[in-house]
Amino acid sequence: MGHGPHRPYVSRRQFVQRTAAVGIAAGAGPFLWQQPGYSAATPVEQIHGQLGQDASREAAFSWMTPGPVRRPFVQIGGERVRAETMQYAGYPGYFHHARVDRLLPDTRYRYAVGHQGEVRSTKAVWRTGPRPGKAFTFTAFGDQGTDVPDPTNIQDFDPLTLQTITHQQPPFQASLNRDLAYSMNPAFHVIVGDTSYANGDQAIWDEWFRGIEKMARTMPWMPCLGNHEIEAAGGLGGFTIPGLGGGDDDSWGPLGYDSYRTRFALPENDDKDWEGNWYRFRYGSVEFISIDNNDVNTEVTANIGYSEGRQERWVKRTLRRAAKDPDVDFIIVLMHQAAFSSGLHGSDPGVRKAWFRLFAKYGVDLVIQGHDHHYERTHLMERAKVVESAEDGHYTSDVGTMYIVSGNGGGVQRGEGLFGGGDFTASIQAMEVGTVKVEVVPDTGRGTKRLVLGEYSATRGGAPIEEGIVIERSLDRGERSSRATEEPEAAASRLVLPSEDPVGPLHETTGGVAALGMGAASTAAPGTTWTRGSGDEEVTELREQRRSDVRRVLRDQR
Ligand SMILES: [Fe+2]
Ligand SMILES: [Fe+2]
Repeated sequence: MGHGPHRPYVSRRQFVQRTAAVGIAAGAGPFLWQQPGYSAATPVEQIHGQLGQDASREAAFSWMTPGPVRRPFVQIGGERVRAETMQYAGYPGYFHHARVDRLLPDTRYRYAVGHQGEVRSTKAVWRTGPRPGKAFTFTAFGDQGTDVPDPTNIQDFDPLTLQTITHQQPPFQASLNRDLAYSMNPAFHVIVGDTSYANGDQAIWDEWFRGIEKMARTMPWMPCLGNHEIEAAGGLGGFTIPGLGGGDDDSWGPLGYDSYRTRFALPENDDKDWEGNWYRFRYGSVEFISIDNNDVNTEVTANIGYSEGRQERWVKRTLRRAAKDPDVDFIIVLMHQAAFSSGLHGSDPGVRKAWFRLFAKYGVDLVIQGHDHHYERTHLMERAKVVESAEDGHYTSDVGTMYIVSGNGGGVQRGEGLFGGGDFTASIQAMEVGTVKVEVVPDTGRGTKRLVLGEYSATRGGAPIEEGIVIERSLDRGERSSRATEEPEAAASRLVLPSEDPVGPLHETTGGVAALGMGAASTAAPGTTWTRGSGDEEVTELREQRRSDVRRVLRDQR
C-alpha cells in the first residue's frame, strides 16, 4: 500500500529543525508554539481527499492535527491504512496523508480518520472514479481566496459602472462560489492556482482548508500551482515589487511551495525533487495534466526555469502516452498563467513557448487557466491560430484546443482588453464570480464524444453566464473494446472492499456554511507595479539566473 516516501525531496529533518528555529519568529499559524504530548484526544481537522493517478483505484486522504499523534490512520472499508506525517517550517501543526491504492472502480466507500487506535472524525463518503467510457461532471475555477479580505489585491476602476472592483468585492464571494460548485454535485473540483491567497500567512491556509472541508472530503479539489502559492519573504505572489524587493527569496523551503506541498497529497510524478508540483491523473476516459506555469511563464519572476526543463520533458512524455492510449477520449490541462487571456496579465509568451507545440501535436482538448480574475473562453485554437469559430457554441472540428480563463473564483477584476477581447475570444465576462461546469460524455451514441461546458454566476444564484458550449468529436481516438476488462480474480482478495463499515452511521461534518452578505469593504489600492518579461532573451536570462539559485537550494537541502 502506498507509494513509498511521500515527499522524497529530503530535508524533512532539516525542516523540523528550521521549524523549531523560526516557528515563533515567523508568527505564522493559529496555534501557540508548544510541545504538546502525544494524545489520543488530539482533534483532527481540515480533512480532504485527493484522487490518485488512477482515480478508479487510488486516493489519498489528508488532515491536520494541532499536536503530534501516534499511528495516524484512515479507516476505509474494513481496513486501517497508516498515514505519513509531515511538517513544514513556520507552521506548528502536523499533516497526515494516507494513500490507498487497492480500491474498486466506481464504488462508494465510507471513511474516517484517527490515531492511536481511535477514530477521531465523523464519516464521509468517497467515490472512486469510473472505468473509461462513463460520463461524469466536474467543476472548476481558480483564484479563489477566502472571505478574509486580501490587502494585496489590485483594484480597477470600471468606467462603465463607475465602480471600483477588487478581488474580494463584495465580500464572501469565495464561499459563495464554493457553495455554487458544491451544489452542482461534481465528481471532483479543480482549482487552477491562487487557491488561498495566504501569501505567507499560514492561518489563511487553515481557513481555506476549513472552508472547503465539507465538500473536499467527498468531492476532492485537485489543484495546480499559481503564483500565490509561492510564499516568499518580501514578495507577494512571486512578484518582485519595486521598493519592497522580494520575489526570489524562498522563505518556506524549496521555492516557496512548502505549504502547498505539505498540505496536499497529490499523485506522484516520479520526480524526486518536485513531487506534487506537476502531476497527472486519469478519471474515466479523461487524462488530466496539472502543470506549474511558474516554471515557464515570463511574468512572475520568482521560480522561472526552476525545473531545468524536467517539467517540460515530463509533460511531453505524458502527452505522448495519453495521445496513444485508446482508453483516452479527452486530454484536459490545468494551469495557472494563461496562454490566452484578454485580462490584465494577458497571454503569457513563456507559457505559449513552452506548450503551444505540444498541445497541438498531441491534441489537448481543453485547457483550464486562471491568473486573470475574469471569465473568458476561446474558440478552438491551434497554437495562436483559430481553427474553428462556432458562433452558436457548437464546435465539431476534430482538432484544436479550447482555453478557458476561470480566474473569477473569488473576485473579479476588469483589466486591459476586457471591452472586446482578442481575436481568439469567443466569450468574455469580467463582472461576476463564477464556476465552470464541464460534462464529459465519452459516447453520445452517434459515433461522437462530447465536452459540454458552462459558466455560472455565484452572485446570481447559479444563473448561467454561458452554457451549452459543445466540443463534439468523432470517436476514432478510442477503441471501445479495450474497456470491457473485468476485475482480475487473483487480485480480488487484495482489494479494499466497501462492505465492512465499523465506524458507525454516516453523518455530515460541520463547517463550510457560507456566510452570505453583500456590502462595500473597499480598501486603498496598494499602488504596486508588476515586473513583466517581454521576450525570449529575457526569459532565457531569467531562467539562467534561476537555475543557479535552484541548484543552490537543492544542494542546501540535501
Ligand atoms: Fe490570482
Ligand atoms: Fe495569479
